[in-house]
Amino acid sequence: MAKNLFDFEAEFRLGIEAVDNEHARLIDMLNAVHNLISIGEKENARYFFTETLSDYVDEHFANEEKFMESFEYPQIDDHKKIHENFKKSYYELKPAIETFDETAFRRALTDVFTWILTHIGKTDRRYARYYFETQKE
Ligand SMILES: [Fe+2]
Ligand SMILES: [Fe+2]
Repeated sequence: MAKNLFDFEAEFRLGIEAVDNEHARLIDMLNAVHNLISIGEKENARYFFTETLSDYVDEHFANEEKFMESFEYPQIDDHKKIHENFKKSYYELKPAIETFDETAFRRALTDVFTWILTHIGKTDRRYARYYFETQKE
């Protein structure tokens, strides 16, 4: 069994169960793509990256935006824009991935991983902090 590229460390937990579950699933999916490449299942890895993971990213962003709306997060517009920019660059990666170029694929995967981990650890944590501050009086 291939070793995971990353683990869902405690530092990425925001303390909001529904959000944490989705983040953990995102990390699992990224690890799954990495593992498929490691065992030579390139076509499955490509499909998983461009379809399954891509759909899940959309779903997560939509859920997260709904959640931020529910407690009237003041920085929601900036956060939405960050999501939108990420989606744009994610879709720009697709053609490179479709070519089966393993180097391009690994680079894309590392970029996505880095982005998601940084986003969860910094940008998502900001709304979580606001959420906890305003929920308690
Ligand atoms: Fe998130
Ligand atoms: Fe986010």
